[in-house]
Amino acid sequence: MADPVQEIKDRLNIVELIQEYIPLKKAGVNYKANCPFHNEKTPSFTVSEPKQFFHCFGCQKGGDLFTFVQEMEQVEFPEALRMLAQKANVELRGSNPREHNERTRLLDCLSKAAEFFSTTFAQRTEAEHVRRYIADRGVTEETATLFQLGYSLDSWDALLQTLKKAGFTDTEIEKAGLSIRSPKTGGWYDRFRGRVMFPIHNAHGNVIGFGARTLEAHPKEAKYINSPQTAVYNKSAVLYGLHLAKQAIQRMDAAVVVEGYMDVIAAHQAKFRNVVAASGTALTEEQIRLLKRYSSNIILAFDADTAGLHAAWRGMQIAIQQGMNIKVLALPAGLDPDDLIRQDPQEFRKRAIEAKPFMDYAFDTILAPLDLTNVHHKKKAAAELLPMIALFPDPIEQTHYVKLLANILEVNDELILQRLKLKPQPRSSAQRQKTASVQAGNAVGERGKMIGRPSRDFVLFDRILALLTLYPEGFSEVRAVIPQESELIQDSLLQALYKSLELFYNQHGSLQPQAIDFHNDGNVALAAKWQELQLIGEEEYIHNTAQQRAEELRKLLDQVKRSDIKRRLTRLGRDLQQAEKTHDVVTIEKLSQDFAELTNALRSLG
Ligand code: CTP
Ligand code: MN
Repeated sequence: MADPVQEIKDRLNIVELIQEYIPLKKAGVNYKANCPFHNEKTPSFTVSEPKQFFHCFGCQKGGDLFTFVQEMEQVEFPEALRMLAQKANVELRGSNPREHNERTRLLDCLSKAAEFFSTTFAQRTEAEHVRRYIADRGVTEETATLFQLGYSLDSWDALLQTLKKAGFTDTEIEKAGLSIRSPKTGGWYDRFRGRVMFPIHNAHGNVIGFGARTLEAHPKEAKYINSPQTAVYNKSAVLYGLHLAKQAIQRMDAAVVVEGYMDVIAAHQAKFRNVVAASGTALTEEQIRLLKRYSSNIILAFDADTAGLHAAWRGMQIAIQQGMNIKVLALPAGLDPDDLIRQDPQEFRKRAIEAKPFMDYAFDTILAPLDLTNVHHKKKAAAELLPMIALFPDPIEQTHYVKLLANILEVNDELILQRLKLKPQPRSSAQRQKTASVQAGNAVGERGKMIGRPSRDFVLFDRILALLTLYPEGFSEVRAVIPQESELIQDSLLQALYKSLELFYNQHGSLQPQAIDFHNDGNVALAAKWQELQLIGEEEYIHNTAQQRAEELRKLLDQVKRSDIKRRLTRLGRDLQQAEKTHDVVTIEKLSQDFAELTNALRSLG
């Protein structure tokens, strides 16, 4: 036999092949179209019928029909060869190892099953209610055909019998995930019974599995059941609808990702063709790799509330790390894309166009309930947004959000960068020096933290010292509440610092932050920590009046008192238990009194 590549070229016409993907227009001797490989408004993609090749004058892509399929389907040559061989009915020698055979058998079996389900759905009287259900959900016959919607009869072996008649063995049917073997009898029965069948295809359009929805309004079993993992179906590597959406995704350079089967179906019916579903799970690495073949832009449709944001965030982390650009199509609360598209397709389009970059959306959602004049709220904003910003692999993007956050919190970029533990961008030497010392301080803090996570109290004491750098008058109040050997200060560096401040205060009668310079003592770690605190103090409190600072200090000290009382209450509780065990009435009496006093004190602190 001749060379299969030549054989295929002889049998297929590149014009017809390309026309299966994009509409071509005759232009003189050649054909023209808007290039499917880059965005353009005037066609520079040209196909020559006599020469049997294509070339784009815009993006310079070109080649024969194999190249076209490789580019279009994002596959390597052997796969393109296989696909075109099938199309041209050319047999490929030497490429039929047993495994390949087995896979093909499973695919054939699944495709046969899909055919049986869809014929049942379209024709059988037992499926009348299913047709009505699908029609009631607004799905046209044409769309149902496009997605090969089907129905599995409410029977234990309708599919089994059909497939066996078509020549498939019990084992093959089980391996395709279509039957279940009863451990008791050893016999097989249909896995899917009495459900709407959604065939799941791979990117090439082969059926590889099924999603199956119950028709009951209050089902006892799961609303959806899916094919199990098989040799051809791997749930985490599948995007529902991709075989129908891939060209649109490439053309529009964006994929809209929704959650459910019905969302995809409604979208395609309304001519939103670049829509796929992750089928109820967070996007996996495999799914992202799959999408990336066609575009690196994802538009994620999800519920617009904070819970939705956090759910989406979990799903987005991998995608962001893989360098995908993610936008958010915010849905009205409580509406699926399916609902919205049926109600108002223009609204869906509008929201898709107005989709915001994920981080902009995260900023808006997280900041909306916060009062950014309140320092605790600022901290909360930073705590939630920083880990998100930290994930961006692209420094340009990251810097963009660092600046945005810094602006909103009214602090310097450096402070945010420091928290992100990033190398700051080059800047003036004065700024550089400042930053360097801050980083040194941070490194020391880091070492302290390695013992364990910083406790809330540790952060609290940090804040108090930071405030003191701007509001030294408050020191007498602080020392009245926090003794030198306080359990509150677990970080040894902060302990040393607090001791030095006390020393200075005792010597000079007041605290003078400007006059304190640990460099003179040669204590680099202390000097760095002190500088860091001064910087934080500046960032957080520079705009506050003396009165506001006093108020803030009082609040922080109240927090200290509260956590101190709580600690003592815990201890008292333990002692009380002990005393009760030994029936020590006197001690019980005394401890109970203390307990009541402390509880009152706690209550008075609010
Ligand atoms: N899903 C699944 N298995 C389940 C539940 C859900 O695979 N047991 C997937 C399906 O792809 C489903 C999607 O998660 O479409 C979303 O689930 P859900 O919101 O419960 O269903 P809807 O898609 O809204 O289904 P419907 O509109 O038909 O009620
Ligand atoms: Mn739904």
